[in-house]
Amino acid sequence: MAQLRGPERARYVTRMFARISRRYDLVNTVMSGGRHYAWRRMAVRMAMEGLSGPALDVAAGTGDFAFELARSPDVSSVIGLDFTRPMLEIAQRKGEQKKVSDRVSFSVGDAHALPFPDDSFACATVGFGIRNFIDLPASLREITRVVQPGGRVVSLEIFRHDGRGPLGRLVPLHFRYVTPWLGSLLAGDREAYTYLPESVDEFLAPDALTTAMEAAGLTAVRYKSLAMGAVAIHVGVKQ
Ligand SMILES: C[S@@+](CC[C@H](N)C(=O)[O-])C[C@H]1O[C@@H](n2cnc3c(N)ncnc32)[C@H](O)[C@@H]1O
Repeated sequence: MAQLRGPERARYVTRMFARISRRYDLVNTVMSGGRHYAWRRMAVRMAMEGLSGPALDVAAGTGDFAFELARSPDVSSVIGLDFTRPMLEIAQRKGEQKKVSDRVSFSVGDAHALPFPDDSFACATVGFGIRNFIDLPASLREITRVVQPGGRVVSLEIFRHDGRGPLGRLVPLHFRYVTPWLGSLLAGDREAYTYLPESVDEFLAPDALTTAMEAAGLTAVRYKSLAMGAVAIHVGVKQ
């Protein structure tokens, strides 16, 4: 996987998410000890503080970030966008079960070419998605483009552990060896859950993502570290 770039990598990523779509939520819950819901809740609070209006969730997958946005009284409507149709089909079904389909809709599309006019949303979120984008600067500029001036772009992402602290050596080892094993056990797809730690290893450090968000035209970029530094929520404001 590491050697794949550009459209070839995008095809690899979307096929992989299509394969694991039915088990994605279960594996997320087991691997995060159920914490992924609380992380999205926190990210939504940081995204919408003092704002109101429509929200966009990019790389929406099976929809949990979009549903969390819809719970906020400040969010008028949500669009969840993703380029993997089987992930969105699950999101759609969950939306119907939750009876939120009037406020949350899902749309197939690519984070690098969003089908929305400039300044459309009060906020745009990305959960565990930007690590997979083939051109991070271009996708960040594109996501920023569709947010209103004064609105926010928020990313919730997994990061390489810096190796410090009591669990400094354990977290990377767990990620490298236990994650593929769990992925194979729960989703029957060792390869997808080998991609996960590899993509985290290849991705930026949190400070470098801050710099990339600033380069995309966001200001006041800050981040909150969670899960002993393995996860972070970045927030930036569109000028
Ligand atoms: C790890 S899942 C995250 C799903 C969801 N955001 C969550 O919080 O659980 C990553 C998702 O990103 C999507 N994705 C990756 N690259 C994309 C792109 N360029 N445009 C749209 N979706 C993309 C994949 O299809 C996949 O559904």
